[in-house]
Amino acid sequence: MASVIDGKAAATAVLADVTAASERLKREAGVQAGLAVVIVGDDPASHVYVASKGKRAEACGFRSVQHTLPADTEQADLLALVERLNADEAIHGILVQLPLPGHLDASSVTQAIRPEKDVDGLTVVNAGKLMSGDRSSGLVSCTPAGAMRLVRDVHGEDLSGLEAVVVGRSNLFGKPMGQLLLAANATVTMAHSRTADLSAVCRRADILVAATGRAGMVRGDWIKPGATIIDVGITRIDAPERGPGKTRLVGDVAHDEAEAVAGAMTPVPGGVGPMTIAMLMANTVIAACRQAG
Ligand code: GUN
Repeated sequence: MASVIDGKAAATAVLADVTAASERLKREAGVQAGLAVVIVGDDPASHVYVASKGKRAEACGFRSVQHTLPADTEQADLLALVERLNADEAIHGILVQLPLPGHLDASSVTQAIRPEKDVDGLTVVNAGKLMSGDRSSGLVSCTPAGAMRLVRDVHGEDLSGLEAVVVGRSNLFGKPMGQLLLAANATVTMAHSRTADLSAVCRRADILVAATGRAGMVRGDWIKPGATIIDVGITRIDAPERGPGKTRLVGDVAHDEAEAVAGAMTPVPGGVGPMTIAMLMANTVIAACRQAG
């Protein structure tokens, strides 16, 4: 049976460090870290995520600001808000919640954020710094940073000799995750929907990271015995066994099958999810310390 990688416990440890750093920054430099989250439209899941980011930011001692804009907001108005936040000295981190409504150009909005305040790590400057190994001034996208922390908890800092397979190649997760694994000396394969014989590629993995967005896609016989599984997927499905109208969250990995084969795996929920918010808070306090110094 695979051991459970406890993302909640890991996140609690990260948040304790973040809170201590935030208090130190206040005490020693008189600066309160500030995080601004921008949400456009009324996607209910996004509102839940944004509310929990705000609450967590306050618990870390940050100033937390939320800007909620109507679904028909124009690109120019959204860009003007980003520019205002870029110039606001009380705000050290800016996050524009994705996805944006279809009429808006998410890429140009994301790229308008000052790289020093880009706590999502999505600007080309931060993506480039990650790729070129500059960890001292860049900011790394929160979900991959959190997933990497969980990998390190199992394998330590040096992944030399280990094969890592990342399934999914998004800018928000797959690509930065591949870079982080590479920087830790893993031999990395980036797999995706066009990969031939995906199951055979996955079976090579000592560390298998699944971010396909397809519930239960990675089956037990895709997994090398003893492998570490990081499941980034989160899909809400009907769960009639829990009662009429009930739902539950599942990952991209068929949990029960994988549990019998893997060495260690993240649960869904309670694995990578809690780490994402913790790393957002970590990025915010890092950004605030750099801007204060
Ligand atoms: N929507 C879902 N995940 C994320 C994230 O990590 N950052 C942003 N900005 N939007 C998201």
